[in-house]
Amino acid sequence: MRVSVASAAVVGLAATAVAIDPLVIKGSKWFNSKSGDQFFAKGVDYQPDITSTNQIRDPLADKAGCTRDLPFLKDLGVNAIRVYQTEAYGNHDDCMKMLADAGIYVMLDLSTPTQTINRDSPSFDADLLGYYQSKIDTFSKYDNVFAFLAGNEVANAANNTDSAAFVKAAIRDTRAYIKKKGLSIPVGYATNDDADIRWQQQTYFDCGSSDEQAEFYGLNLYEYCGEDATFESSGYANVVKNFTNWDVPVVLTEYGCNAIRPRTFPEIKSIYGSDMTDVFSGGFVYEYVEESNKYGLVDVSGNSGSKTEDYNNFKKALAATSPKGVSMKSYSPSGKQQECPKVGKQYSWLASSDLPPTPSNATCECMMKSLSCVSKTTEMPTSNSDLKTFGEDVGNIFGQVCADIDCGDVSGDASTGKYGKYSFCNAIQRVSWVMNAWYESQRGVDGSCDFNGFATTTKPELSNDSTCSDQKDSTSDSDSENGKDNSEDTDSEHTSTSSVASLSASVVFVIAAAMLF
Ligand SMILES: *[C@@H]1O[C@H](CO)[C@@H](O)[C@H](O)[C@H]1NC(C)=O
Ligand SMILES: *[C@@H]1O[C@H](CO)[C@@H](O)[C@H](O)[C@H]1NC(C)=O
Ligand SMILES: *[C@@H]1O[C@H](CO)[C@@H](O)[C@H](O)[C@H]1NC(C)=O
Ligand SMILES: *[C@@H]1O[C@H](CO)[C@@H](O)[C@H](O)[C@H]1NC(C)=O
Repeated sequence: MRVSVASAAVVGLAATAVAIDPLVIKGSKWFNSKSGDQFFAKGVDYQPDITSTNQIRDPLADKAGCTRDLPFLKDLGVNAIRVYQTEAYGNHDDCMKMLADAGIYVMLDLSTPTQTINRDSPSFDADLLGYYQSKIDTFSKYDNVFAFLAGNEVANAANNTDSAAFVKAAIRDTRAYIKKKGLSIPVGYATNDDADIRWQQQTYFDCGSSDEQAEFYGLNLYEYCGEDATFESSGYANVVKNFTNWDVPVVLTEYGCNAIRPRTFPEIKSIYGSDMTDVFSGGFVYEYVEESNKYGLVDVSGNSGSKTEDYNNFKKALAATSPKGVSMKSYSPSGKQQECPKVGKQYSWLASSDLPPTPSNATCECMMKSLSCVSKTTEMPTSNSDLKTFGEDVGNIFGQVCADIDCGDVSGDASTGKYGKYSFCNAIQRVSWVMNAWYESQRGVDGSCDFNGFATTTKPELSNDSTCSDQKDSTSDSDSENGKDNSEDTDSEHTSTSSVASLSASVVFVIAAAMLF
């Protein structure tokens, strides 16, 4: 049966301000910073389409949508939502206040389908770092934002695990930025569940230098299917066993197998019961809104929503739990950092613990000023088709030039941990470097700075690039020894959409890397 809830029910709610206590991490657990009570996320993944015609897909900037959904969230009894796609601009005050007033915390993905690390040709450049920083600027002012995710299911097979190095670089650099701002919101990562690389992934994000680690670990887990499954038979028990003694919180950033429908959520008694509460900090059921993949709790249409069959089952299962935690005072952490996984195809792991350098616009802009032959295009194209053409052109130029000339300065290899000094520059900057190298090798003869009209000559402002590597961006220059010179929501089965933008931005990286290393 479907029951509509009038969205008018929350009118007036915004008037009663209730402060929400920030959460803090101690060891492998989250706590309410005021009461010291342990916090378990009773969460739901929340990404309804916005109700306005605005192009951005940011449900936290959609007051009407939040007004529609708050009564459902409160009725479900959730205390947290995970939001995949938001934007740094727009007004989030209304939604964030409604959520805070309802005691609901927010875990926020920093990436979007177009602003993300692409698993097929990974890179982490200053554009993406700047984008993540702007997200942090926008959302860190809300007390109920308790966690950021630097990626979602980026690596999803043994042969693309090199991408994990770039995600970890993003964690390192966003953590440094948050610290520099004097804040303490933790940055983590949400992995897919792929048994072949599960152990490698979970140890990789928990190994190495402590300021590079994920501050919490998210697992998207869909193993527990139907009433006949048990904690053991589902595979959950193995997963939990392998996180015992972890030194940071672990949380299910997605769960809720729907192979057997309607779902009755038998895993909930494990997640919030003695099976898991020592090791996991709760989870987020996938997902709030009904889509074609049939995981929804609420069928949303314009300003109204109606409950799906799963809705009451989830509510009932959640209400039957009362997770027993420890108090912050009485808890002494005993977890341990992990060893980094071995690197090599035979280990199904391709990411060295030597991370890509911290990207710096200043370095890349300085390098550009030293070039005599540059890309005519100065801004990344925005339409998908233009991006595709651009990516192909760039790939061809790399292919031609780097067969003859050493392009190591603009390439990198995650499996060896060797990165060129301009490897983090964006595609326009890197292809300019490549075309200029060719132009110089031809001693500037006519036609050697053309590349079918892609390139143009220019008078360099700097006679050489000798000081460029020392230039750091003020926003991301941290006190650590980052940047040494050897130096989402991505698409998943559940969260859709491809990322053409970063694909073309990084296609050059892969081509060059393949030729040089
Ligand atoms: C780098 O420059 C781009 C383009 O101006 C900007 O969007 C981005 O935020 C900058 N990144 C950093 C880390 O400052
Ligand atoms: C990576 O491995 C998957 C199977 O796990 C396979 O389907 C895919 O084609 C491989 N990709 C490449 C580029 O080898
Ligand atoms: C559990 O951890 C061991 C290493 O201690 C690893 O070999 C095994 O693959 C892991 N199991 C799972 C299910 O990840
Ligand atoms: C690089 O340029 C600077 C001036 O901009 C000059 O002092 C220096 O000698 C140059 N270095 C090389 C190696 O040409």
